[in-house]
Amino acid sequence: MAKDLLVSASILAAPHATQEEVQAAASAAEAAGADLLHVDVMDGTFVPETTRWNDPAAIKAIATGLPLDIHIMIQDPDDRLEEFVSAGASMLAFHVEAAKEPERLLSRLRRAGVKAGIVLNPETPAEKILPYLSLADYALVLSVHPGKAGQEFLPDTLTKVIIIKQRFPELPIEMDGGMNPETAALAREAGASIIVAGNAIYASEDLGIAIRSLRETQKTI
Ligand code: DX5
Ligand code: ZN
Repeated sequence: MAKDLLVSASILAAPHATQEEVQAAASAAEAAGADLLHVDVMDGTFVPETTRWNDPAAIKAIATGLPLDIHIMIQDPDDRLEEFVSAGASMLAFHVEAAKEPERLLSRLRRAGVKAGIVLNPETPAEKILPYLSLADYALVLSVHPGKAGQEFLPDTLTKVIIIKQRFPELPIEMDGGMNPETAALAREAGASIIVAGNAIYASEDLGIAIRSLRETQKTI
C-alpha cells in the first residue's frame, strides 16, 4: 500500500504573494498527484527571510486534501510549536540548531498527534540529531542552505542520510532542497523516502509529469 517514495510539493517555489496564489499552488499540487504539501515557515531571525506562513493563520487558510508537511525555520521553536500544530500540521519538523529542548518538542508533537520531525542544516553533522531520533517519526535532511527555493543540491549532505539510515533503518528520512529526478535518485539510494521539491515541480510545464518523474527515479545498482 505504501509508496516507497513520497513527493512533498514545496509551495515556496510557486507564486505565493497572495492567498489566492497559495491556494492555486496547493490545488495544482493536489491535482497533479503530490503526496504532501510542504510549507516553509521562516521568521526573519533563524533565517534572514520571512514567509507569509510565519503567521499560522495563513497556513490554516489553505484548503487542501493533502497532509501538511510543515518545516519551521524559526528561532526558539519551543515557544511557538503549538501555533503550527493547530494550523493543521500532519507532520512538523523543527531545526535542531534552533531548539532548546529537542526531546520535549518531539514529545509535544507526538502528544498532539502530529508526526514529529527534526531537521538539520547542511553544515550540521548527523551526530547532532542522532541522540533524538528514537523519539522522532522522521528526520529531515536539508540539502541546501535554508531560506530559498531554487538552490543547487549540496551532495555532501547525502552522507548524513546514509548515517541516519544505518543507525535507524526504519525511520523515514525526508530530503529537502535542490531535488530533481537525478538528485532524488541519489537521495533514494542513500535511504531517503520522502522528497521535497519546489522548483522541480512548480517551474515545470506539467506538474503531474514532474511529480511522476521524481517518484519514478530508479535506484542505480
Ligand atoms: C529551503 C526550503 C525548501 C525549498 C525547496 O529553505 O526548505 O523547502 O522550498 O525548494 P527547491 O526544491 O526549489 O530547492
Ligand atoms: Zn523546506
